[in-house]
Amino acid sequence: MDNRDSPRALSAHESDPPQFGVYIHWPFCLSKCPYCDFNSHVRRAEIDEPRFVRAFASEIATTAARAPGRTVSTIFFGGGTPSLMQPATVGAILDAVARRWRVAPDVEITLEANPTSVEASRFRGYHTAGVNRVSLGVQSLDDRVLKELGRLHSAREAIEAVHIARSVFERYSFDLIYARPQQTPQEWADELKQALREAGEHLSLYQLTIEPETPFAALHAAGKLSVPDDDTARALYDTTQDICAAHGLPAYEISNHARPGAECRHNLVYWRMHEYAGIGPGAHGRLDIDGDRHATATEKRPESWVSRVEQEGHGLVTDEVLTREETADEFLLMGLRLAEGIDPQRFAALAGRPLDASRIAALRENGLVETTPAGRLRVSLPGFPVLDAVVADLAA
Ligand SMILES: C[S@@+](CC[C@H](N)C(=O)[O-])C[C@H]1O[C@@H](n2cnc3c(N)ncnc32)[C@H](O)[C@@H]1O
Ligand code: SF4
Repeated sequence: MDNRDSPRALSAHESDPPQFGVYIHWPFCLSKCPYCDFNSHVRRAEIDEPRFVRAFASEIATTAARAPGRTVSTIFFGGGTPSLMQPATVGAILDAVARRWRVAPDVEITLEANPTSVEASRFRGYHTAGVNRVSLGVQSLDDRVLKELGRLHSAREAIEAVHIARSVFERYSFDLIYARPQQTPQEWADELKQALREAGEHLSLYQLTIEPETPFAALHAAGKLSVPDDDTARALYDTTQDICAAHGLPAYEISNHARPGAECRHNLVYWRMHEYAGIGPGAHGRLDIDGDRHATATEKRPESWVSRVEQEGHGLVTDEVLTREETADEFLLMGLRLAEGIDPQRFAALAGRPLDASRIAALRENGLVETTPAGRLRVSLPGFPVLDAVVADLAA
């Protein structure tokens, strides 16, 4: 038994009633971080928030007409930097959601926030608007590193923002990026322990990814930025798992750690393959309509998205019905990120064929996957660093 068994049991389970999430994308940032390839844009002029609110409300109404009768269990404001929105904007978008769908009494409403003091000063307003969970992009607790990452906040500001979040919201989380240039496992262990002293019920710990076409990718290609080699990356990953588990925040997903019962319910909607609406520029959604699973995506450029919504009521540029095979592959890709793993029967129902027993046996022999006593298939702790290869093998 590893630390993902029993006391690790998730509070909710994939066999629980269907969940419906609403993702709202706010596409603006004060500056562009050199590692980031999210759909985020910097604008000199002030953003016309009332115009965006009307467009969000319109796209929510159009989506609800296609997917009526759902009960919203989670709402997530992601970005970009949603904490640049006025609280009234957040409130108006939440009202628009509630006008079109039933909202569960225990709905989880998360907002991603950057930890500058200006933004932290809005936290009470977001709470009054209905937000009950905040996720802060702390990234590092070292000022030198924050500068290298192009962040606009200091470590002190980040910690102050965490303290404000803690005093205002029922639930909070923060993000750190590790496996950074030259980072040693010992340095990371010290930083992570410091972070855990500030952490509540949830932490997201991402290994730095060099995303194509970012300034970091150019530096990397020019030999001016080096990321840890495979062995160091592995040591950093193991350090993360050991320290977090010992602190009572084991991984419930490859990069996400929580006390049992405090997982981000919105992200579980994605990983357990429930339904979600993607609203706003560049948002992705998955809707089950008349027995088909639709993969949706909207126009990425904010101003083009607004114009499109004003003309057509939505900003959709992609609306594809996924085949059985595509749906089943996505189920593997998402579900195997979770410590709870997947139900092989659900894969068989989606794919119309069972998983290949000989491939599972080979992966099991190599210690990369395991079957739980309940018959679920999951990636083992040693398998997580090579998750993509495991999924590709099972999906083949
Ligand atoms: C949508 S992003 C940013 C949210 C918010 N704007 C911020 O920067 O704090 C969510 C998280 O993804 C992580 N992230 C973004 N780019 C990354 C990269 N290239 N490698 C690893 N983590 C990354 C960061 O930890 C970030 O907080
Ligand atoms: S990391 Fe966050 S603040 Fe930086 S550009 Fe990306 S979305 Fe914006």
